[in-house]
Amino acid sequence: MSKPVSICVIGSGYVGLVAAVCFAEIGHRVICVDNDEARVKTLNEGGVPIFEDQLPELLERHRDKGVEFTTNLGQAVEASEAIFIAVGTPQGDTGAADLSYVEAVVSEIARGISDYKVIVEKSTVPVYTNEWIRRVLHRHGVDPKDFDIVSNPEFLREGTAIKDFMHPDRIVVGTTSERAAGVLQRIYEPLTGGSYYEQPGAMKGACSKENPAKLLVTSAQSAEIIKHASNAFLALKISFINAVANLAEAVDADIEDIAAGMGMDSRIGPKFLRAGLGYGGSCFPKDVAAFHWVAQQHGIDFQLLREIRKINETQKDVFFNKVLSALWTLRGKKLAALGLAFKGNTDDIRESPALEVIRKLLDAGAIVTAYDPAGMDRAKEVLPGSAKMRYADDLYSAAADADAVLILTDWKEFGTIDLVKLNRVVKFPIVVDGRNLYKPQTMLDHGFTYVSVGRPAGYQAQQGKPRSMVS
Ligand code: UDX
Ligand code: UDX
Repeated sequence: MSKPVSICVIGSGYVGLVAAVCFAEIGHRVICVDNDEARVKTLNEGGVPIFEDQLPELLERHRDKGVEFTTNLGQAVEASEAIFIAVGTPQGDTGAADLSYVEAVVSEIARGISDYKVIVEKSTVPVYTNEWIRRVLHRHGVDPKDFDIVSNPEFLREGTAIKDFMHPDRIVVGTTSERAAGVLQRIYEPLTGGSYYEQPGAMKGACSKENPAKLLVTSAQSAEIIKHASNAFLALKISFINAVANLAEAVDADIEDIAAGMGMDSRIGPKFLRAGLGYGGSCFPKDVAAFHWVAQQHGIDFQLLREIRKINETQKDVFFNKVLSALWTLRGKKLAALGLAFKGNTDDIRESPALEVIRKLLDAGAIVTAYDPAGMDRAKEVLPGSAKMRYADDLYSAAADADAVLILTDWKEFGTIDLVKLNRVVKFPIVVDGRNLYKPQTMLDHGFTYVSVGRPAGYQAQQGKPRSMVS
C-alpha cells in the first residue's frame, strides 16, 4: 500500500467510529474527535459506546495504535491530511436536515488549517452542502488553495456497518479536484486494489483481491444525490411491499410468497422486500424527509417521497389495529412487547417503530412488558419504567401471564422461541407478529392464534388453553 494517510474523523457515533476503526484497519493513522467528553473517555478506557458486530475486536486491535481519541479538534486537524465530518445531521422541524453541527465543526476546522487539507462530507447531507462548507471556510479567511471539499457518503447499515465498510458495493467520491480525488483514492486503495483482503486477519466478506471494491468518482452534487436517492429508493421498496401486504391481506394472499416471487426477478431482487411495521432508524425517516425538502427548494414537487412517508406512518396504525382486533379491548390488557430497537442486531432506538407502537398501546390503556437483547438501556432513557411500562430480563419473563405477545423487532432470538414454553407462560396463546418471523402453520401447530402482516387472517387456534393450563 502507498504511504499511510493521516486522517481525522470528527464524530464518534455509528458512522464516525466505524469509519475511524476501519481506516485504521486498512493501514491509516486516525485521530477520532468528539465533543462528548464522556464518550471520548469511554473509548480511551477501552469501552465500546455502540453495539456493532466486530467493532470491539477492531477497537481492541487499533486503540492507541492506528486510532486515537480526543476532544481536541484543532490539534487533530493540524496533524491530518484528510478531515472526515461524521457528526449528526438530524431531521429539523421543516424536514430539512439540521446542519448546525456540521457548520459548528467546519468553523472549528477553519482554525486548524495551515496547509492543504481535504475536507470530506461523510455525514449524509443535502446537495450543495459542499458549497456551504466552502463559503464558511472563506468567511473564516481560509485560503482556497489550502483546501478542497469532497463528498464521500456512507452506505453503512447498523448491525453490519463494519462489513459494509470493508466490503462495500461501491465507494462514491464526489469532487472536481484531481488532487482531492487522488487523496481519497490513496485512502481507499487497500480496498480498491484488493491488497487488504489478502492480509492475515482481514475482515471476510464479498470483496477479495480478485474482486476488489469499486470506486466511483463524480461531482460533489451527484455524490450527495446518490446518497439521498439510494436511501429513498430503499425506503420506497419497503413502503411498496407494505402497501402490497395490506392488499394481500384483503384478498387472502400471502405477502411472504409474493415478495419471494417478486424478488426472483433479477431486476427487483429479494432484498428490502420484507413487510412489517415499516422502516425506522436514524437514516431512512430523516433522509426521505431531507430529500423531499431539497426537491422542494429547487421547485420539484417530489410527490412520491410523500407517499413513501405516508405509507410508512400508516403501517404502525395497521399493526395497532391488528392488536386491537385480536384482543377486542386494550384497557388493562397485559401485552408482552418483544423488541425495542428499530431493527434486529442493533441497540439503536432512534425512530423505532417498536417504540411508536408501544406508546400507542400505552395510550390505549394497555400494560406493556418489554424485552430487547440490546436496546433496553436506551429505551429506558426515553420511556422510563412505570406501573404500566415494564422491562423484563428475557422474553419468557416478558410473556408471563400476557394476554398477547407482540413481535416488534426482527431479532434472531424472536424467530426461534421455544413455543411450548411460551404457551405455558402466557395467559392466552395469542401472538401478533409485526415482522413475520414465523410460518402461520407452526404457530397453529403449537396452539397459538397468530396474526401477522400481509397474510390470510384465518390463523385462529381452535380454542384457548384448557383452564388447567392457565397459569
Ligand atoms: C449521523 C447520522 O445518523 C447519519 O445519517 C449521518 O450520515 C452521519 O451522522 P451517526 O453516527 O448515527 O450518524 O450520528 P450520531 O450517532 O449522532 O454521532 C454523532 C457524533 O458526533 C456524536 O458522538 C456527537 O457527540 C459528535 N458530535 C456532534 C461532535 O463531535 N461535534 C459536534 O459538533 C456534534
Ligand atoms: C440504512 C441503509 O440501508 C444504509 O445503506 C444507509 O447508509 C443508512 O440507512 P439502516 O437504517 O442502518 O441503514 O438499516 P436498514 O437495514 O436499512 O433498515 C432500515 C429500516 O428498514 C429498519 O427499521 C428495518 O427494520 C426496515 N426494513 C428493512 C424493513 O422493514 N424491511 C426490509 O426489507 C428491510
